[in-house]
Amino acid sequence: MLSRRLFSLANLRGTIPSDFHFVPDFFSVSEQRTLLSAALERLDTAGSRRFQKRRKNSRSSLNSTAGICEAPLSELFLPDDCYEFLQVSSYFLCIWRRHDNAKFAEGHYDGVIHNYREMHLTSWPTAEFPGLVPALSRLQSVLPSSNIQTHLLHLASDGEILPHVDNVSASGRWILGVSLGSDRILRLESCANPDEVAEILLPSGSIYIQSDTVRYQYKHSILRNSAFANGAGQRMSIMIRVSPSYDRTIPNLISK
Ligand code: OGA
Ligand code: MN
Repeated sequence: MLSRRLFSLANLRGTIPSDFHFVPDFFSVSEQRTLLSAALERLDTAGSRRFQKRRKNSRSSLNSTAGICEAPLSELFLPDDCYEFLQVSSYFLCIWRRHDNAKFAEGHYDGVIHNYREMHLTSWPTAEFPGLVPALSRLQSVLPSSNIQTHLLHLASDGEILPHVDNVSASGRWILGVSLGSDRILRLESCANPDEVAEILLPSGSIYIQSDTVRYQYKHSILRNSAFANGAGQRMSIMIRVSPSYDRTIPNLISK
């Protein structure tokens, strides 16, 4: 079961709010490799020619082992300077402004993410990555409802996400995050009581779902690497959100 029962103490500090579900080892290493390679391919293809060239040069000079099955997952990332990371986000505004009412157009989502690149994903490159379909269908089987939006978010080694609640007019009652690459800490903080804090270590291959109470009444953030000794590298997250008004039914818990 995908449930709070699965928290191992090593992954957790504080009291986890209800409606937060976590599986630390949802994806196998080979599934992680496939998902990360496909996500990088999508972002890289959409990126500027200047940085595409930089990546090409870096690959040939590093004689990179990326893509080779035995190479560690972290080697799928090139050095930070091969990516066109944005320093400060206009991420939330860009994607969501068109849905926003005046309340959410004020700009308080701006500046939440630092040192990142992102994209709205409309399709996965399933033809190029044979293992992708089975990995995605396993993920699909734990989604609380259909009609989803998918975003890729690539954090630089020094990237971070400051505390926020995802725009409530742009997506519905649940948000699923897949973590790939460097470990990071997800911090949850009650909006009503800032002393109510939980921190969850998100290893590569883990998934979490925030729904209902935690989705609306807690801020979440992804801490900088300095907060965590082993998290020295880049991280990719696949963020899946239900579209507003398509989230009427949420099963209590979801089977793995
Ligand atoms: C976001 C977000 C968390 C993550 O993109 O809004 O909070 O796990 N991402 O990357
Ligand atoms: Mn968020």
